[in-house]
Amino acid sequence: MVEGFKDFKRDKYCGEVSEKDIGKEISVAGWVHKVRNHGGVIFIDLRDREGVVQVVVEEKENPQAYEKADRVRSEFVLGVRGKVRRRPKGTENPKLKTGYVEIVADEVKVFNTSEVLPFPIEEETHVSEELKLRYRYLDLRREGMKKNLIFRSKAYKVIRDFFSKEGFVEVETPLLTKSTPEGARDFIVPSRLHPGKFYALPQSPQLFKQILMVAGIDKYFQIAKCLRDEDLRADRQPEFTQIDYEMSFVQEEDVMAVAEGVIRSLFRELLGVQLPERFERLSYHEAMDRYGSDKPDRRFGLELIELTDVFKNTEFKVFKGVIDKGGIVKAINFKGSNLSRKEIDELVAFVQKLGAKGLAWIKVEEGKLNSPIVKFFSEEEVNNLLSRTGAEPGDVVFFSADRKDLVYKYLGNLRLHIGKTYGLIKEGIWDVFWVVDFPLMEWDEEEGRFMSLHHPFTAPVEEDIGKLKEALEERDLERKKKLVHSVRARAYDMVLNGEEIGGGSIRIHRSDVQRLVFELLDIGEVEAKEKFGFLLEALKFGTPPHGGLAFGLDRILAIMLGLDSIRDVIPFPKTQKGVCPLTDAPDYVSPKQLRETHIKVEE
Ligand code: AMO
Ligand code: AMP
Repeated sequence: MVEGFKDFKRDKYCGEVSEKDIGKEISVAGWVHKVRNHGGVIFIDLRDREGVVQVVVEEKENPQAYEKADRVRSEFVLGVRGKVRRRPKGTENPKLKTGYVEIVADEVKVFNTSEVLPFPIEEETHVSEELKLRYRYLDLRREGMKKNLIFRSKAYKVIRDFFSKEGFVEVETPLLTKSTPEGARDFIVPSRLHPGKFYALPQSPQLFKQILMVAGIDKYFQIAKCLRDEDLRADRQPEFTQIDYEMSFVQEEDVMAVAEGVIRSLFRELLGVQLPERFERLSYHEAMDRYGSDKPDRRFGLELIELTDVFKNTEFKVFKGVIDKGGIVKAINFKGSNLSRKEIDELVAFVQKLGAKGLAWIKVEEGKLNSPIVKFFSEEEVNNLLSRTGAEPGDVVFFSADRKDLVYKYLGNLRLHIGKTYGLIKEGIWDVFWVVDFPLMEWDEEEGRFMSLHHPFTAPVEEDIGKLKEALEERDLERKKKLVHSVRARAYDMVLNGEEIGGGSIRIHRSDVQRLVFELLDIGEVEAKEKFGFLLEALKFGTPPHGGLAFGLDRILAIMLGLDSIRDVIPFPKTQKGVCPLTDAPDYVSPKQLRETHIKVEE
């Protein structure tokens, strides 16, 4: 029943047929969204990229077309020629863009048939992610998914227009390269021509964009693919896209102004939303103290409350032990929640799953405190903690006592979990701001060494360079930690609705400072040379002061569209397990390919 396409010429998209076309003879083409046979009249909803239009085929008027229409099924590919008319009174569909018109078919052509689909093309599908991704081309036929792709395409244009207007040069950097320093695992590609050698896929264009500054490009940008072999989550893909840029002879404020400009343009052009002229700045320490996170979701309260001083002489062994070892006690007060014992236990279990030894709590009831721990507290401690947390009947206060970073982790996550589970997060708000004043490095307890908060090329605040030198000489580890922690980085992260959407820094442009930083990070000369030798060499040849930033484009788009996962804005994403069900990647390769690339696979 399939017919030739040769003589067919489409006039417009199905979704664009309008009342202006009434009386005209037009041709449309698309997929059969739905077909209904009412005996003597067949209705076909024909769908293309722009939407759906109703086609009417009448047996009496056109027996030939009717006979064909009677055989079409869902997702057959048709061409229809016919006259546009106003829908009869009472049959209009105001929900549809084309809902006031229909095409009375003169001719129906079947260009292709379709097997029965594994799932229907509907907005609300209840099929597994795996199945949807396996048949991604069908999933993308859904209006919502199509809308996301078109939104993404428009974003590219806004971004390119913005950077081009600001005098940035778009430069492509290589995919087959050497390891870059973003802290994830590299994907590696074996070299056929060089037995035993491997390319690494870039975790970001970081080194190349700095090199471009040495080259005198002055302002670079790129919409760049980045590849990181890390554990995946809803906001993380192994392959994602950055809006990446770098500038010469700039201070933090210059780089930040450009970042604010791009984000403002995206919101204005794509959503019609006007963001503030200058985004608020929050210091890293304040973010951690108040929210237990360096990317706080500020769309709800439930802030962390400091209680270490209240309990500094406590008899309660758990708290005392922690405080004596230099740890802290903090609390959050879930106001007016009247949680049941079961709900409290669930929250305790949530925090324990993160590794916490426990989560103490007090439920404030009329005239009494319901809690497993108040019996250990003095009257003064109880009074102080009640006034500090502002606890009133109906409130439940949760306490965490541990090493500082762990308390932040437990309470920061608990806060978010409560915010989400109990619907505290205000919707329809765009909370966009900077986190600044990061420490340059932090001591990593697990690794037993200092680690960069951003990457090893981030510049320290100039006045603090002396402290780095001092720290290098310092033998006592505790004093050394104190010194290093007080060194500020010239770094900045942008946060939108509780997600880190971008980050960057002013870079180190002097080899002596770079060497100092590497030494503190315990990156030896040999290792540095092997890993970043080409950048270190370039730094010796007249490197201008420079800095930049990279945005996670997928995250920005997902947040703008109100989507839970960045997979919905990526045309062909991987599953949580890093698999592409459509292509079956990653897959085995042939023995020949292995031989050619000098690889032997061990079971
Ligand atoms: P960073 O590693 O912070 O910085 O990355 C910048 C932004 O990219 C996004 N992002 C991701 N998005 C999706 N999936 C992932 N796996 C993923 N990892 C990161 C985040 C993040 O804010 N070269 C530096 C930037 C610079 O210093 O200029 C860099 O890559 O939104
Ligand atoms: P325990 O003495 O271990 O029975 O703990 C008494 C109470 O303190 C229980 O409610 C525990 O959940 C809680 N708890 C134990 N360790 C901690 C901790 N590190 N921080 C906060 N509460 C804790």
